[in-house]
Amino acid sequence: MKKIAVLTSGGDAPGMNACLRAVVRTGIYHGLEVYGIMYGYDGMIKGEIHKMESHSVSNIVQRGGTILKSARSNEFRTKEGRQKAYEQIKKHGIEGLVAIGGDGTFTGAKIFFEEFGIPTIGCPGTIDNDIYGTDYTIGFDTAINTALEAIDKIRDTAAAHDRIFFIEVMGRDSGYIAVECGIGGGAEMVMVPETKTTLNEVVEKLKGLRKSKTSSVVVVAEGDEEGSAAEIMEKVKNTIKDDTKDFKVTTLGHIQRGGSPTGKDRMLASRCGMAAVDGLLSGEANCMAGIIHDEIVYTKFEDCISKNKPLNEDTLKLIEILSI
Ligand code: F6P
Repeated sequence: MKKIAVLTSGGDAPGMNACLRAVVRTGIYHGLEVYGIMYGYDGMIKGEIHKMESHSVSNIVQRGGTILKSARSNEFRTKEGRQKAYEQIKKHGIEGLVAIGGDGTFTGAKIFFEEFGIPTIGCPGTIDNDIYGTDYTIGFDTAINTALEAIDKIRDTAAAHDRIFFIEVMGRDSGYIAVECGIGGGAEMVMVPETKTTLNEVVEKLKGLRKSKTSSVVVVAEGDEEGSAAEIMEKVKNTIKDDTKDFKVTTLGHIQRGGSPTGKDRMLASRCGMAAVDGLLSGEANCMAGIIHDEIVYTKFEDCISKNKPLNEDTLKLIEILSI
């Protein structure tokens, strides 16, 4: 293998740049030519493919976002789109790919590998931490810390006014961010897509806490089946009917996706980036390089996409215990 290419795709995550840097420099270290593909699979289709040098990734290890840009490509979902992408890959003589992203990115990579046989290895880049085959995903730790900083500030004002705050964090299909923010931010309750929490349970819990607490925080994962934090707040407020209490909602949104990656994310990203190139050179393909119990593990894309990474029951219990 002489030429490889790397792309970032799907929702960006802090640490993607650190991962990209590791891919480029590990490739060059092993004598490979490394190409960067702009805008994920969209850029592959359009042939936005540029040779990268060691200096192309200078001064990015600490930067959020992705210098390769990212996109969610609809065209790559079509056979014609993937055919165009393959023609570009062939034209540039690329023999291996590294795809940094989440489950959507790996689904695309798997189909592309099955259709055209270009060896591809993924690196888990998503703030959601919902990828099977790695203990943590790149960006998760930074997102948690960003959200916690905001939650701490909200707690100050919540306490000053004896208010009940519903705080929405990201996680379309996954409650990892909500659970860790709930524990670290001292939330009274956490609502996540993986487990059902009824509005009645929220109402009862908040009523029960009235004797011991003057303010409360409920962390809601974006994907909770009861609705958005704003919708849940309205319904709970209308049920509790307590004119002495103010109910407020804050949606943290995309601030969770930005910012300089934490040390933990830079380390994870760098190790996964190196492992992706090492994997390609040793014949691995159609799989993701993740870290489990501090060891590099290659997990087939099929498993990364289809297998569930359940929330740890202990952590859910912890929220219940710590919020009495
Ligand atoms: O997958 C990462 C993620 O941040 C989710 O938590 C969130 O639901 C989604 O991306 C938002 O995507 P977009 O930026 O495309 O709206």
